[in-house]
Order: sequence, then C-alpha cells, then structure tokens
Amino acid sequence: MLAALEQIQQQALEELHTLQDEDALQRWKVTHLGRNSPLMRTFDQLGALPKEERPLIGRRANEVKRALEEAFEARRQALQQAALQRSLQSERLDVTLPGRPIARGRLHPTNLTLRQIVRIFNEMGFQVYRSREVETDEYNFELLNIPAHHPARDLWDTFYTTTPGVLLRTHTSPGQIHVMRQYAPQPLRVVLPGMCYRYEQVSARKETQFNQVEGLAVGRNITFGDLKGTLSDFARRLFGPQVRTRFRASHFPFTEPSAEMDIECFLCGGWGCSVCAQSGWLEILGAGMVHPLVLRNGGYDPQRFSGFAFGLGPERITMLKYHVDDIRLFWNNDLRFLEQF
Ligand code: DAH
Repeated sequence: MLAALEQIQQQALEELHTLQDEDALQRWKVTHLGRNSPLMRTFDQLGALPKEERPLIGRRANEVKRALEEAFEARRQALQQAALQRSLQSERLDVTLPGRPIARGRLHPTNLTLRQIVRIFNEMGFQVYRSREVETDEYNFELLNIPAHHPARDLWDTFYTTTPGVLLRTHTSPGQIHVMRQYAPQPLRVVLPGMCYRYEQVSARKETQFNQVEGLAVGRNITFGDLKGTLSDFARRLFGPQVRTRFRASHFPFTEPSAEMDIECFLCGGWGCSVCAQSGWLEILGAGMVHPLVLRNGGYDPQRFSGFAFGLGPERITMLKYHVDDIRLFWNNDLRFLEQF
C-alpha cells in the first residue's frame, strides 16, 4: 500500500510538470485528486485494512494528498505568471512615447483681416450690423439709386435666382437700406461685414464670391470732413501710423459726391512697383456722402440728415498686406497657403 502511494505521488508529480495550460491542469486535478482517483480510493479502502496499519497508511495518504495539492497550486501559479509575462511582452505599450500632436486650427486670413477692420471701427463707435446675402432687386439696386436698365448696373454682374426679383447681393450696400429703415430717425454708426457674389470670370484678381465691409454713418451735420477723418484714421490704424492716404473723385450712384481712397504703396514707398502698377498708390475703398435719395429711401429726411458711407474688400486688403498674388487662394483650402497666417 505504501509503495502504491509512493507510485501515485511520483507519477502525478511527473505528469504535473509537463502541463502547459489551465485546461490540462483541471484534467490533471480530476485524474489525481478527484473522487475516483487512485489516491482518493485509498481513503475508501482504509476501513478494510488491519487496524494497526490504518494510521500509518492514512497519514501517508494525507501527506500525498497535501503534497499533490500544493504542487498543483504551485504549478497553477507558475503557469499564470508565465501567461502574464507573455501578454506583457506581446501587448507591450510604451507610455513614454510622445503623443500625436493635435492639429490646431487657425483663422482664415480673410477672417483675420475682417476682425481687425471690425475692431478698428468698433473703437470708433461703429456697431456691427448683419444683413442678408439673398436680396431683392429693389434693395440691391433700386433703393440705392440704380434703376433698371441704368448702365451703372453693368458694374455688378449679378447672380439671379429662379424667383423673379430675387438675387445674391453683389455688394453689402443694400444693408444700408435695411439698417436705416430699422433705426430711422435715430443717428447711426454701423459696419456691415459679409459675403457678396458676382457672376464673373474667375481670375487671379476676381472671384465669384468675396467679402465686403460696408460702413455707414447717418446723423446731423455729418460732413465730407468726417468721412475723410474717419477713413484716414482707419488706414493709419490698419496699416501703421506713417501711411499716407489720398482721396480721388469717383462715381457711385448711391453717394454724392463719391471718392476712392488710396494708400501710399507700402512696398515701394510710393516710388512705383509691380504691386501698385508703377503708380505708387493702392486703392483700398470706395466712399462718399450718402445720396439724398438713398437717405430718403432709408427713412431719413435729407434736409435734416446727412451721412457718409464706404465699402471695402477684406480679401483685397489681405492681398495687399501679405502680398498674396492670386485671390483664388482664399477658396482653394490649401493648407500650405492657410497655415502661413
Ligand atoms: N458697393 C460698392 C461696390 O461694391 C462699394 C461702395 C462704394 C460702397 C462706395 C459704398 C460707397 O458704401 O459709398 O463696388
């Protein structure tokens, strides 16, 4: 009997050390420590043994049982450790590697300029007024003193919708009528930024879609001197205190008199270069005293009120400031261009 127990222990331990996984371990446990295992049956047979042999065999059987259980537990832990080591190796994660950088967005160059322009006018007391991009013929032309069939309409190549009389605004000027009609007869100082559309052949200088910033001041005793002072100051704040400006007579149907403002070319300092077409000057906006008809259409009595207006193009100003030579770059969505700002 003792020899049989010895045999059981030795064989079980030998087998145990060849096992490589949890399933095999469990099968081993059933075979060697289960109810029908040779070892457990030894306990059943104890009763049949002569009385004096029982303690010896019983003690030995218990020792074998404990030895197998301990060996089983040790083997199980060793296998678990090995499995853990393996997964630590194969699923290795280096938390010290630098992370992927977050791609930070930035403002579009036009928006940068728009914000600068709007901030400067805000500082001078102009509020932002937003106006619609889909307009009627009446607001875009008629009320601005540009009647149907008037040759001045040729200045604005227009996108018409399929609804008669409805179009995409060709300039921000119709916003003048909207804001005047909302606030008349109160005095006004507003800028109206926004997108405009023109049916044009796209080229390095012309796009079908671009921004404008309209400005409008209406009140008592507003003079051309106020216009000049405001716009010269604006130019100095945007381009620097040294910049020189000049006003040239011009014509717009909705202003009388009308002017265009140039700044001295900051590239050549007025000597003449390719950017200013050898003239030494860069045109940056159109302006004028609001035409009496337009004032009346906005709800102001032109006998008692006067005002000035102006319109400028942030894309054009951005092109001048940063020497961008093709307006199409603003809409290409090319990061190589956009990331420079
Ligand atoms: N609306 C004109 C255009 O798009 C620009 C302009 C000129 C606006 C003179 C004005 C102005 O308010 O007084 O060409």
